[in-house]
Amino acid sequence: MIDDALLEAAKIYARERLSAKRYAHTLRVADTAERLAETHGIDPKKARLAGLLHDAAREVGKGELLRAAGEDGLVVGEFERERPILLHGPVAAQFARRDLGVKDGEILAAVRAHTTGEPEMGPLALTLFVADKIEPEREGPGVEDLRELARKDLSRSAHGALQDSLSHNEERGCPAHPKSLETLRWLENSGEGGVV
Ligand SMILES: [Fe+2]
Ligand SMILES: [Fe+2]
Repeated sequence: MIDDALLEAAKIYARERLSAKRYAHTLRVADTAERLAETHGIDPKKARLAGLLHDAAREVGKGELLRAAGEDGLVVGEFERERPILLHGPVAAQFARRDLGVKDGEILAAVRAHTTGEPEMGPLALTLFVADKIEPEREGPGVEDLRELARKDLSRSAHGALQDSLSHNEERGCPAHPKSLETLRWLENSGEGGVV
């Protein structure tokens, strides 16, 4: 059970660590995740907490991200060494545990997986992943469709969001993270008869 004091502490924690712009994004993600959770019968307070904490390590420097990941025994591959910002989810989960005493495995897994996705990610992780991509200020050609889809089917919406971010990365010449590709394949094969 998530109490309101913890939600308030998480809000302050995020505010202290983020620029005004990113903090505002964080609040929108928390609201979006909470509403999506209500729609899909997922614990809304857990979704809100995951939303409040998801980007808490987003403004941590590269060196510190790598150091924190190393301390936590996280596997830091070549991909992450070149782009330490990809570690901001796993490191945010570490901070949540260490600084706020969050022990709930679903919340920590959701925060950890919010950037690349993760095969076998659970409903809460899908909720956060989608909320991050469809919060009200997100713009882009497919976002409105993703919003509509999210109300009906989180897996399909996550699949669309992941496809969009992979093609966006491709346009910018950024290689796809292997975990994102694995997640895409997993989403294609999960659910009733698969997504596609
Ligand atoms: Fe993030
Ligand atoms: Fe975010």
